[in-house]
Amino acid sequence: MAATTLRTVWITGGGSGMGRASALTAAADGWAVALSGRRRDALESVAGEITAAGGTALVVPLDVQDRAAITAAAEIVTMHFGRLDALVLAAGLNTPQRRWDDQDLGEFEAIVATNLTAVAATLDAALPALRESRGVVVAISSYAGWTFQPGAGVAYSASKTAISSLLRSLNQQEAIHGVRACHLCPGDVATDFLQQRPEVPDAAARAVMLTPEDIARSVQFVLEAPSHVRIDELVISPVSSA
Ligand SMILES: NC(=O)c1ccc[n+]([C@@H]2O[C@H](COP(=O)([O-])OP(=O)(O)OC[C@H]3O[C@@H](n4cnc5c(N)ncnc54)[C@H](OP(=O)(O)O)[C@@H]3O)[C@@H](O)[C@H]2O)c1
Repeated sequence: MAATTLRTVWITGGGSGMGRASALTAAADGWAVALSGRRRDALESVAGEITAAGGTALVVPLDVQDRAAITAAAEIVTMHFGRLDALVLAAGLNTPQRRWDDQDLGEFEAIVATNLTAVAATLDAALPALRESRGVVVAISSYAGWTFQPGAGVAYSASKTAISSLLRSLNQQEAIHGVRACHLCPGDVATDFLQQRPEVPDAAARAVMLTPEDIARSVQFVLEAPSHVRIDELVISPVSSA
C-alpha cells in the first residue's frame, strides 16, 4: 500500500478501555489507527466504530507476551500505512492475588511480561519508524508507577514503576532522532480492568472514577504536541481521590 498522508498511531490494548477511547479520539482527529490486542472481535468492533464515522483503522491481533508476534505486527502496521507517527501502549495485566502472602510467581512473570517487557519489545519494534517520523510514544502506566500504592500489587507496582525508567532512557537516548515518550499515570479509571481487583468496585465507586475518555483526551494532547515538545509525565487523578 502507498504511504497514507494521515498521521498514524498504533495502539496496544486498543480493543477496550483507555486504548479503545484513545483510538476513537485519535481517529476523530483525523489519525489513521492500528489496533492490537488478543481479542479480534473487540478490535474489529472498535475498527467498525471508526470506519462508520469515516475514519481509517487497521486490526492487527497480537499477544504482547509473544515477542516474535510484536515484530511481525510492527511490520504489518508500517507496511500497511507506510509510516508510524505515534505509539500508545495500553495493554496491561494485574491479578487479584497481588500480595506477598498470596501471589503466584507464574502470574508475577506474566504481569511483568505484559506491563514491562512488552512495552520494551513494542518500542524496540516501532523505533525505526518512529525515528523516521520523529514520533511520539504514550505509555499508559499507572498512579502506582508514579508513587507507591499499597493495594496495587507486588508485580504490578514493580512493572509499572520500571516503565518510568525505561522511558527516561528512551527520551535521553532517542532525543537525537526526535523521538519523545510520555509516562502517563492515571488514578482509578472505570474500565474492565477493575475486575482484576481482589474487591471489585461497585457502581457507586466507579461513578466517581475517571473515565476512559478523560484519559483519551490527555493521550490526544500528547499526540498533538508540536514535534519539538516532549511531555515527560502526566499524572491524572479523579478529584474524588484523597
Ligand atoms: N483502570 C484503571 O483503574 C487503571 C489505572 C491505571 C492504569 N491502568 C492501566 O491502563 C491500561 C489500560 O487498561 P484499562 O483500564 O483500559 O483496562 P482494559 O479495558 O482491561 O484494557 C487492558 C487491555 O490490555 C489488553 N491486553 C492484556 N493482555 C494483553 C496481551 N497479552 N496482549 C495484548 N493485549 C493485552 C486487553 O486486550 P485483550 O484482552 O483483548 O488482549 C485490553 O484491551 C493498562 O495498562 C492498565 O494497567 C488502569
